[in-house]
This record gives sequence, C-alpha cells and structure tokens, in this order.
Amino acid sequence: MKKPGSGGWEGVGLLAASYHDSGRRAVERAVRVLLSGGSALDAVEQGVAEVENEPSNESVGLGGLPNWLGEVELDAGIMDGDTLRACGVAVVKRVKNPIKLARRCLDELPHALIVGDAATKLAEALGLEVVKDSRAPPEALERRKKLEREVAEASSGLTRYYSKIFRAASKVWHDTIGVIAVDAKGSVAAGTSTSGVAFKFPGRVADSAIAGAGFYADSRYGAAICTGVGEVAIRAVAAFRAVLLLSQGYGPQEAAEAVVEAAAEIAALDGERYNLGVVVATKRDVGAAALNWESFLYVYWLGGEVKVEKAPYVKLT
Ligand code: GLY
Repeated sequence: MKKPGSGGWEGVGLLAASYHDSGRRAVERAVRVLLSGGSALDAVEQGVAEVENEPSNESVGLGGLPNWLGEVELDAGIMDGDTLRACGVAVVKRVKNPIKLARRCLDELPHALIVGDAATKLAEALGLEVVKDSRAPPEALERRKKLEREVAEASSGLTRYYSKIFRAASKVWHDTIGVIAVDAKGSVAAGTSTSGVAFKFPGRVADSAIAGAGFYADSRYGAAICTGVGEVAIRAVAAFRAVLLLSQGYGPQEAAEAVVEAAAEIAALDGERYNLGVVVATKRDVGAAALNWESFLYVYWLGGEVKVEKAPYVKLT
C-alpha cells in the first residue's frame, strides 16, 4: 500500500465531478479554480459554496427547507486526500456557507466533527458570514403542514409518524451538493453540503457531515461523494467503501455499483425503498450508480466540455 500523501501519479489531468442539475454550476466553478492553479480543496470548497449561495435551492444552504420545528439546519464536510484530514459540521444554524466552516475547521482545528450552536459560534469567531435568523419563511411551514395532513393518519406513535414524514418529505426534497476535485499536483479532495431531508427531526445529521459516509478522499486512490437518504450512506459507510474498493483495484464504475448493492441490502433489511446516488472518481475516470433513482445525473469535467450524464447503473428495488 502506498503511503498517504504520496499523491501525484504521472500524467494525470485535472478533474472535477458532482451530481444533480446544480452539479453543473458546482463543477464549472471548481474548474475555474483548478484552471487558475487552485488546489483540489479550494476547488471543492468553492464549487460547493456556489450552490450554497443560491437562495432558490431548497436542499442546500440557507434557502433549504427547514426541520420539523421550522428552523434551517445545515450539514457539510470536506476531506483532504493528501493528509486524510477531514472535518464535518452538523446541525449548523444561520451560517451561510457551512462548507467554508468545514474547510476552516480542517485547516485550523484538530477536530473531525463540530455540531450545533458551537459550530455557529465558531463561524462567528472565524469571521464567516452568519445571518440573524434561522427560521424558514412562512411558506415553508405551510408546505410542512400540507405534508403533515397527508400523513396524519399515521400518528399512531412518534417514531412511526416521523418515518412516514421522512418518506413523504423525500418527494419535496432534492438533496445534497457534492464535489470531487483533482488538482495539478495530483491531490484529491471531496466535500458535500445539505440542509438535509425536508422537515427532518431536529438534530438529525446527514451523511454529508460525516467523513466516510457522504464524502471521502484519498489521493492514492480517488474519492467518492453521495446523495440521497443519508441514513443509508452512513450505515453502508458508502464513500469510504467506494474508496476502499478503488484501493483493491476496482474501477470507479465498479466501485459505485458495489456501494449501491450494499445500500440495497440495507434497504431490503428495512423493507424500504431508499434512494442513494454515488459518484466515484480516480485521477483519470469517473463512475456513478444509483439506488431507486431512475434519472440520477452525474456531472464531470476531465478537460474540454463539462459533461452531464445519467448514471449508467441504477438498481430499483
Ligand atoms: N444526503 C443528505 C441527507 O441525507 O440529508
């Protein structure tokens, strides 16, 4: 096994990859960073922040749909594939760019995960942009009430009720942004950001804040980013699993498919139709696969045009 940080393979090019429609903007931004000589970490941070900055995005950044109590809570994380350092921030309120907070944590603190009010205080202390109010606009609460009415008959117990809400909410929720980047030195980085499933249980943490679940990077092998039901990505240790498979000689497409198979096993054990999307990249190639997500799009740039394609492997359960 190569030592961490042994980085640069001969002859690799720059690479950026993401998913969903919003991934195009994230990749375009990451590409601008890479072409101007920026690092993979900078490309990931700025690509993700580009989508966090869109007020109209209902599943990333402060425009995201709120938790059950009407507050917007954000999760994000970033990983440096050279040092294997990673930091996630979770249940963060009022911070405009959680990915920037995760990056500052990665660069300046020895921690791997910071949560809740302390994360917001850290953002303030670091001089990051923090808004005054974490309450979502009244229209978002109207949508929650509509959803609540739709599942009202399920109120036979809180846990059961929330699981029905969770299932129904995925119909109004489009999910995460993630970016993988490879820079001119051959360094690999990955990061993700989300406001999480709409109307989630307050305090619920997405895979997007957890290294190994929603994102993972190792400059010796490649990186992975996930989107979809975070609980499945966490239980499948999905992003780490993908990179471990790369280290064992799988290609990115094979690794993405194997992760989806592992997620499908979890879905079968639960008797649920969870969805999950996975994008995996080495320094030369990108693969993608999805569970119960028929039109899962992935976006990548390997020089030339930015390409948007449907995942070649989709498993339906
Ligand atoms: N993958 C984002 C979430 O589970 O909320």
